[in-house]
Amino acid sequence: MHIDLLSPASFAKGHPLDQYAWLQDNAPVYWHEEPKGTGFWVLTRYEDVANVGRQPHTFSNEPTISIADPDPDSPNFASDDHKMMLMMDPPQHTQFRRIISREFTRGPAAELRPRIAELAARIIDTVIDRGECEFVNEVAGELPSYVIAELTGIPLDDGRELYKLTEIIHTAPEVLEEGAQFQAIMKMFGYAQEVYRNKLEKPTDDLASQIVHAEVDGRRLDEIDFQLFFMLLIDAGGDTTRNLVAGGLHKLIENPEQLSQWQMHRADMDDTAREELLRAVSPVIYMRRTALKDTELHGQTIKAGDKVVRYFGAANHDPRKFEQPQALDLDRFPNEQIAFGTGTHVCLGQHIARVEIDCMFHEILARMENFQLAEPPQWLESNFISGIRHMPITFTPRKALIPD
Ligand code: HEM
Repeated sequence: MHIDLLSPASFAKGHPLDQYAWLQDNAPVYWHEEPKGTGFWVLTRYEDVANVGRQPHTFSNEPTISIADPDPDSPNFASDDHKMMLMMDPPQHTQFRRIISREFTRGPAAELRPRIAELAARIIDTVIDRGECEFVNEVAGELPSYVIAELTGIPLDDGRELYKLTEIIHTAPEVLEEGAQFQAIMKMFGYAQEVYRNKLEKPTDDLASQIVHAEVDGRRLDEIDFQLFFMLLIDAGGDTTRNLVAGGLHKLIENPEQLSQWQMHRADMDDTAREELLRAVSPVIYMRRTALKDTELHGQTIKAGDKVVRYFGAANHDPRKFEQPQALDLDRFPNEQIAFGTGTHVCLGQHIARVEIDCMFHEILARMENFQLAEPPQWLESNFISGIRHMPITFTPRKALIPD
């Protein structure tokens, strides 16, 4: 089996399930060469991917969670004093996460539901009469950018513009025009700087104001801390949720009998269907850790300093954990999917993401039917985020709304 988890081409039609299956069976701790780097260990089995996330004292998030080490020439504002929370270890990580974690717990996320439902309905209003749309940008991408904008207290249209920047930031640099990624990062930081200054002057009741006025160890967060925090929120909550909704509808179109089951039994199936779409789509491909000490896994010695990469889509298709993992089963229960990761850095936005996914699919399934692909979908060219970036579809508006 030819293994290449670096080339975006391997993810050009979704997760490379054949490569994952081979690795799980033959090399659960696989050494992957890296032309421009040191190489890295690949973890594909569910237990390993899940457990490594729970051991921050052995597997660190510093210096980064990307396979490539930080490029000293890239416009990265992180330094020893300033890091993005995703690249921190405890106890610093715990302190930073605490600043905003309350807003992201299940209760406050549930309180957002009426507003998120209203935004989801508005998005479908804009396409429903046409019977066709470009589903990724006109539907799936709209809600996450609106929700992040509302949470951080910026105008909805700005949220949409920032979200376009995240797509550029997540695309493999080799397929972009030279300098495009640099410019996108600079624009994002520039915008965050303005928000910081506004919220410093006029605090409002939103996450951005909360971060601007937070203290860690008696030190007030500064402009750079804020820029990194803001970028993380925009970045983490945008195209992940979009890709889940678009990738989810694609899976449903490929499995029409499952789609009609769900459409007929909405109230009974909403929870299991959402978790199954998260498992099947797994929008985040990987997160890297770096070993802090020598350790052994499946007989392989992982040395201090080695990169260890956890593949979530692989873990979510591990037959050791899931029966018939390649089948879409919207009734699957239990379903301990780990699309949101595990352990100390488990997705902070998972409860909000679930509300977004539920509201979006509620509108889609209640108001649309007879979905067809108008053209083959085009996938993102990325080895980090898995998703469809362009998917024109046709559909029929449903005549009568079917009650839940
Ligand atoms: C379907 C949608 C989403 C998926 C699949 C997803 C997935 C992930 C994953 C895999 C991680 C890293 C976990 C680990 O290292 O084990 C993560 C972290 C994070 N996510 Fe999400 N995410 C989604 C939506 C969101 C949303 C909507 C937000 C914000 C509103 C968000 C905010 C974050 C933040 C702030 C972190 C960093 C947490 C930390 O470092 O402690 N995510 N997410």
